[in-house]
Amino acid sequence: MAQTFRALTALVVAVVALVSVPVSATTITTGCESTQYDGSAQLTFRCIRSKKIAEYEDWRLNKFARKLNEQLTASCGLSQCDVRSTNASDIEVVADGTNAVRVAVHNASTVEAIETCMSTTKVRFMQCNLKLVNYVAEGNTDVCQDTTYSTSAVLTTKCLRNQKLDEFTDAQLDKFASQLRDAIQEDCGLDTCDLSLKDGSSVTPLAPNKFSVAAKDATVVAALGACKLRFHRCKVNGVETTTTTTTTTTTTTTTATTTTTTTTTTTTTTTTTTTSPCTTLPAVVVESADLCHEETVDIPNFVATSHIQSICIDLKHTFISDIDLYLRCPSGQKLELATDLGGSADVDGQHCWTPSATSLFPANPAKPEGDWSALDGCTTSGTWVFEYADDFAPEDDATIRAVDVTLLNP
Ligand SMILES: *[C@@H]1O[C@H](CO)[C@@H](O)[C@H](O)[C@H]1NC(C)=O
Ligand SMILES: *[C@@H]1O[C@H](CO)[C@@H](O)[C@H](O)[C@H]1NC(C)=O
Repeated sequence: MAQTFRALTALVVAVVALVSVPVSATTITTGCESTQYDGSAQLTFRCIRSKKIAEYEDWRLNKFARKLNEQLTASCGLSQCDVRSTNASDIEVVADGTNAVRVAVHNASTVEAIETCMSTTKVRFMQCNLKLVNYVAEGNTDVCQDTTYSTSAVLTTKCLRNQKLDEFTDAQLDKFASQLRDAIQEDCGLDTCDLSLKDGSSVTPLAPNKFSVAAKDATVVAALGACKLRFHRCKVNGVETTTTTTTTTTTTTTTATTTTTTTTTTTTTTTTTTTSPCTTLPAVVVESADLCHEETVDIPNFVATSHIQSICIDLKHTFISDIDLYLRCPSGQKLELATDLGGSADVDGQHCWTPSATSLFPANPAKPEGDWSALDGCTTSGTWVFEYADDFAPEDDATIRAVDVTLLNP
């Protein structure tokens, strides 16, 4: 009886809603018929969840389109008709692997207004944050069509997971190029078109860890060398530019954080080389306050495999091979639990290492990557320290909720 009543109420509400649509001010299509759209805006978002905009169901994309318009009017003071974004059919998803979309805009000034707005306000909705915007004129497919490139940059990379640039598929190169295009803007403050990065074919792999790309001019290359560029799980640790008449290459290696050296040789060659060291983040040490171990009395003749029952952590991470985990006993000996293991998988929950386990993390329980005997002879009373480091901390956040070392009595 109660259920029937609820169903009826819902029906009534639905009918009322339908009837009210034509007079509702929230239907933003009304009144925009006379607006002319000269081009489109390419909008690149950073989204918290792993689901890409390209994978959105229609209902989600409909909502995304509507929210986009609402945010731009509410936060940036645009008028409702400046950006045509009412439902999913207004949104063109640019490429897989990035969260870039195109929507029709009134004209280039609309995009300038969005840019100005972004410098003071966050345009954020549905867990996505608007990071970049570019104007694309009607009939243009390439945002950078009018840019000329007078030089080329040769970038040396250090990539995780043994990525070899010269073995990339076209799809991987596309993704690589598009992430680089975002990174030069975010990490170096350059413009979208400062490097020619239309798609993967703009990137020429020269070696497993080296590629070239056309650059607008030498100042762009110098700027690249002076910033910390990270994308596609790669760090750039060397940038060179050569003009078209290159005959010699002068390499200057420095160990300072960032140094740019320009050497002009007697030929018409200019070479700029910058080397910034690849920094790994310092280990985050979870001190004993966060560790629970029962033992307060020393176990004499401590043998790890007979006196440790388990080492357990409760961990959440979205790309587990980025993490390095160690356990250090009070007298300082250190056991390597897992470093760079497990590929791109997620972990969320309790993971243990036990003396009887036979496979490495992320098997659960796992055997340590190092040898248990590293802890033989440890004193057991005092501070056990769990060391944690993340190779790419800003990209995938980790949460360690608990660490638990269970010792067996002698
Ligand atoms: C989407 O919006 C356009 C106007 O921007 C409208 O013509 C079209 O009918 C809408 N489609 C759906 C499925 O609501
Ligand atoms: C864009 O349109 C507005 C009003 O319609 C106009 O004032 C402005 O000059 C236009 N800007 C460009 C770059 O065409």
